[in-house]
Amino acid sequence: MEQIFTCPVCGRLLTEAPGRYFCAVGHSFDRSAKGYVNLLPPSPKGDHGDNRRMIAARRMFLEGGWYAPLLDEAERMAAPHLQEGGTVLDVGCGEGWYTDGLLSACPLAHGFGVDISKDALRFAGARQSAREGRLLLAAASAYHLPVADGSVNLLWNFFAPMATAEFCRVLAPDGYMLYAVPGPKHLWGLKEILYDTPYENQTVNPALPGFSLAEQRAVEAEIRLDDPQQIQNLFLMTPYAYRTNGAGRARLEALTHLCTPISFRLLLYRKEEGSAGV
Ligand SMILES: C[S@@+](CC[C@H](N)C(=O)[O-])C[C@H]1O[C@@H](n2cnc3c(N)ncnc32)[C@H](O)[C@@H]1O
Ligand SMILES: [Zn+2]
Repeated sequence: MEQIFTCPVCGRLLTEAPGRYFCAVGHSFDRSAKGYVNLLPPSPKGDHGDNRRMIAARRMFLEGGWYAPLLDEAERMAAPHLQEGGTVLDVGCGEGWYTDGLLSACPLAHGFGVDISKDALRFAGARQSAREGRLLLAAASAYHLPVADGSVNLLWNFFAPMATAEFCRVLAPDGYMLYAVPGPKHLWGLKEILYDTPYENQTVNPALPGFSLAEQRAVEAEIRLDDPQQIQNLFLMTPYAYRTNGAGRARLEALTHLCTPISFRLLLYRKEEGSAGV
């Protein structure tokens, strides 16, 4: 499939070879046994993204299908832009449940996933064989994408950092971006258990430089979890896992079932004419 990943050293397009990628001047990057290529510049400190425990929890929870209403609606919004094929880039793809779902719904599309977390990519790599070469993965930052200018037809950002200039740069002139964010009452039932005074999520300002909003849809549903392990998985994949005190955690651990609204906003953007993203 047509390659869009570029060399992080010199910026030239990479070519895929068995077990590695290389550029025209000879920089070479091994493909890990887990199926991704590391295109991150070396940095001992830096942000490593989600850790293995969070990702394992996310994988188990998403596989349970409770977020299927979001994936279904996202596929409906994306499919018209990928009917005749095209390139999808999932930025902050995590363990790849949404990426994989989209590629399954759009069999002519070619998928690329990037995430700063190698742990996440190890999980995502396990999905590649089912997609028969249509899913390539790279460790990379959303803010410095090793991706060719104008090479992406649909950029897919689900709950990941927003780097508008970089996203504009990699999108084709008629490219789109689908951005998923939590709605105001998302996981309200979980927050009521965790916190004495829960707050609604703030509504995001839909205006983004270089983009015009083409369509916006809300996804609202009620879910019920009867498995304490899945309640913990849901908790661990949210930011609340970082900021909940002992009392809140204890209340959650005592739960045998949880009912909560889930609420999302899907924002479809068109790249503005003439916007190069630089
Ligand atoms: C909330 S998770 C969402 C994962 C996936 N899109 C999903 O919805 O299941 C956010 C993801 O963004 C990744 N991430 C965080 N900072 C990043 C960055 N600067 N560049 C690329 N990925 C990043 C994390 O490692 C994590 O996998
Ligand atoms: Zn190079």
